[in-house]
Amino acid sequence: MIESEKVTKILFGGDYNPEQWPEEVWAQDMRLLKEAHIDVVTLNVFSWALLQPSEDVYDFSMLDRIMELVRKNGFKVCLATSTAAHPAWMARKYPDILRTEKNGMRRKFGSRHNSCPNSESYRRFAALLVEKLAARYRDHENIVCWHISNEFGGECYCENCERKFREWVKRKYGTIENVNKAWNMNFWSHTLYDFEDIVTPDLRSEEFDWDGLRTNFQGISLDYARFNSDSILECFNLEKEILRKYTPDIPVTTNLMGLYRCLDYQKWARDMDFISWDNYPAYNAMPFEPALSHDLMRGLKQGKPFALMEQTASVSNWHLYCKQKRPGMMRLLSYQAVAHGADSVMFFQMRRSIGACEKYHGAIIDHVGTSDTRVFREITELGEELETLRDATLGARTNAKVCIVFDWDNWWATELSAGPSRSLSYVEQIKAYYHALWRRHISVDFVGVTDDLAKYSMVIAPMIYMCKNGFDTKVREYVKAGGVFVATTFSGYVEDHDLVVLGGYPGKLRDILGIWVEELDALPPDEQNHFIYKDREYPAGILCDVIHTEGAKAQASFEDDYYAGYPALTKNTYGKGCAYYVGTLSNDDFYSDYLWNICTEHGIKPVLECDEDVEVTERSSEKGRYLFVLNHSNEEKQITSPGSVTDIMNGTEYAAGDTISLKEKDVKILRS
Ligand code: GLA
Ligand code: ZN
Repeated sequence: MIESEKVTKILFGGDYNPEQWPEEVWAQDMRLLKEAHIDVVTLNVFSWALLQPSEDVYDFSMLDRIMELVRKNGFKVCLATSTAAHPAWMARKYPDILRTEKNGMRRKFGSRHNSCPNSESYRRFAALLVEKLAARYRDHENIVCWHISNEFGGECYCENCERKFREWVKRKYGTIENVNKAWNMNFWSHTLYDFEDIVTPDLRSEEFDWDGLRTNFQGISLDYARFNSDSILECFNLEKEILRKYTPDIPVTTNLMGLYRCLDYQKWARDMDFISWDNYPAYNAMPFEPALSHDLMRGLKQGKPFALMEQTASVSNWHLYCKQKRPGMMRLLSYQAVAHGADSVMFFQMRRSIGACEKYHGAIIDHVGTSDTRVFREITELGEELETLRDATLGARTNAKVCIVFDWDNWWATELSAGPSRSLSYVEQIKAYYHALWRRHISVDFVGVTDDLAKYSMVIAPMIYMCKNGFDTKVREYVKAGGVFVATTFSGYVEDHDLVVLGGYPGKLRDILGIWVEELDALPPDEQNHFIYKDREYPAGILCDVIHTEGAKAQASFEDDYYAGYPALTKNTYGKGCAYYVGTLSNDDFYSDYLWNICTEHGIKPVLECDEDVEVTERSSEKGRYLFVLNHSNEEKQITSPGSVTDIMNGTEYAAGDTISLKEKDVKILRS
């Protein structure tokens, strides 16, 4: 993550907002944070209004005092740029910085993440502020990274954006004829005569009359999603370039949000020095869900360790129910992040604020103001433990043999699509396949469609509806050379502009999979078909393909309806490898049994065989191989030691075959 000699252990700390407090409190904070073994603070996330009280006045006096305070007290700093919420005077004087919602409503001053990414005023003021910050604090040797803005996101449909969208489209397509072709504009008399005819695809135009997601012209809306992500990325890069000029050696990041729809993080990652992200699983999330997000975030930089920038110590105010993390849970989730590639454990926030919406958000220092709380004690214990681990796991990599293809264009395109089923969800399909592997302790990497596949023994591409230019060629070569490819229903239908690939589904994947899908039957939620796979009956629903084999062998067939006897699952031998196809959606047991069988057939091994509630991952580097064992259950669990290993938290040694016990919610890191 932050590859710097300043980082010699897992960073432990997070968002600290002393500007919300009278200065008398700061000294108490310093004492308490040291007591909790905190070593890094994220500063200046939302201070623009204080730093620039009016257009011509900048005032860094408070930030100077804060920077000095934390330096004197030995804390490292992750320094934010404060551009995630603009000051009130700016909104009053330059209303073009205000965002416009999808329904055409221009926002007033308020909330945060509220600036139009294409506003010239916003960009100009952001750049000026960042320039001043970088020049002022460049020599603070305790800054470990720059944190640009905060949780970039959202969309804007204002006139700035409309103008910029036209330019973006022009750059992409060159001529209006190409645009008409790419967006299939002879449909509904949409022919554009000039780039000026292009408007934002919002509720006033193409998204009228639908459920807020689906649209009349997927090609336009898809390009708008790409444009919006690019526009916000330009804001990130604008700040980054300025920071680079002043501090070429300080890495730059921004905190991402895991499975976040609006931004194409794979594209973003290329411009970020390292990935950092904020993990806020719902109170009732299954343990595999944060694991998936960590793996997705790790995959953005081809497996490089990332920073866990935020999580809550106890509750998140914005969840439906602010259910406390039970004793041990905060520690378990912290190590889960490390187990999946994090080199930091950080929190929002150090001290609980007294007003506005985050006053009931968890913090290390609670409203009582002392160290005498359960949460503070748990934090302190974790802080001590992380000190004993030193740099052992820093920089260590995961060596997964299986990857899942994830693609933001596919996420957008499948959601925008009018048909085939409202019950179909790209992310739910990704989760289903991931969960199946997680349950069996098989490590997974997430890759994008342009990443290298050659190092994987198996590539799973759930619902790769849009087979983008070059992806089929890559898969074809991969399978020919001996790879194992798994694809599913609703794959290969369209090319990059969401135009259907003619000549039969699944389009360009047809020869690789050795099938032709003649029809796609979308069953309402209360209807089901079935298939028998290896003597067990499984449900089939939501989508059922009517498949003809063209070289592939059927592995299971539908039981009911007019396609009874037609294949539901197929396997095609292709070159030295093979390609599997799942022509429907089923239940968790099916995905788990199915992928386990394929793994077994192709010699893909789990990290360890053990109980399903126990998660195991491995990270390795030249310092050693570390097996992370996490007991997500509320009971004691046992695993069998896979070899001679040492528990690096307490030095206990185990020989191969020894039983290792983990209390409820406990974690072990075993070095071999
Ligand atoms: C996000 C933000 C923080 C804070 C937390 C609360 O992650 O980055 O500023 O609002 O949520 O959960
Ligand atoms: Zn805008």
